[in-house]
Amino acid sequence: MNVQQMELTASHPLALPVGVTLDRYIMHRQTAFPYATGELSQLLRDIALAGKIIHREVNRAGLIDLTGGMGVQNIQGESQQKLDMIANIRFSRALKNGGEACAIISEEEEGIIYTGNNHGKYVVAIDPLDGSSNIDVNVSIGTIFSIYRRVTPIGTDPTLDDFLQGGRRQVAAGYILYGSSTIMVYTTGHSVNGFTYDASLGEYILSHPDIHSPANGQIYSCNDGHVEGYETGVQAYLDGCRKKQFTARYIGSLVADFHRNLLKGGIYLYPPTRKAPDGKLRLLYEAFPLAFLAEKAGCLATSGHKAILDIKPTHLHQRTPLYIGAPTMVENLVGMLS
Ligand code: AHG
Ligand code: MN
Ligand code: MN
Repeated sequence: MNVQQMELTASHPLALPVGVTLDRYIMHRQTAFPYATGELSQLLRDIALAGKIIHREVNRAGLIDLTGGMGVQNIQGESQQKLDMIANIRFSRALKNGGEACAIISEEEEGIIYTGNNHGKYVVAIDPLDGSSNIDVNVSIGTIFSIYRRVTPIGTDPTLDDFLQGGRRQVAAGYILYGSSTIMVYTTGHSVNGFTYDASLGEYILSHPDIHSPANGQIYSCNDGHVEGYETGVQAYLDGCRKKQFTARYIGSLVADFHRNLLKGGIYLYPPTRKAPDGKLRLLYEAFPLAFLAEKAGCLATSGHKAILDIKPTHLHQRTPLYIGAPTMVENLVGMLS
């Protein structure tokens, strides 16, 4: 971003220039809403803090025996890695200590995690560590989060209803990507902004203000080894991508694949397969938050038959097929599905 762009960004009444810290940005945003009480701001800061701790753990994982499996499976029937567990504990602890969330759901735990803060106004759905298969091989992984205002009365025990409100009722959503650098990208339903973590300062710094994703792109991301199990419309779409000599990129960490495509223009596909007829990805803490953020950045997200954000959730660990990314690419794909 050049000086002129920085000034332009800064001239927007709600904008702050590249280089401001996340804390300052959150505070500044809060002042734009006269009735805001600061709880959501605090919640976002709590998540950002847990992200710093995970950044530290991820970066030294190979040195202090944090790689490898726990030898157990999580509720999804997937083998749990040590860092999955650590991230789950760190985020749960940060949210419990922070006091703003009354309950959490996590990929790593079957039921609702009660924080003991029944006066908290918010609930959080979280994938503490996304892309676990990449932990041991120094490849990008991330945390995905989704925040709702609770619907049950303040002071009472939160219930499933608080988590099954539907994706359009999210008040904030985002991710922290532990990649070649660590970046937190989030939206509170207005603009989408990215803050790169400077570990030497211990601060996230606004580096990607007001992200707008390209309307079209040339990157497609899916697990090519599963293509035989995809429905014919998806296979035909992928054949088209190959004929046009698009670029295939698949990290195997949804959050990292999504982030690249968000910035460069592309589509991420996790279709139903014969083995996983409902797809693999989880609606509440993978698809919903990324779909919310994607729509705010000008992308589309669909299960193939419905906008992701219009799916009515019925259970905490529900799965969904996911096609997400540049609107032209997603529309072209959907047009080929039966
Ligand atoms: P998680 O590590 O949270 O279980 O998520 C893994 C997900 C997603 O991040 C990734 O895109 C996908 O699983 C990869 O699945 P395949 O190995 O089937 O391609
Ligand atoms: Mn995941
Ligand atoms: Mn995970």
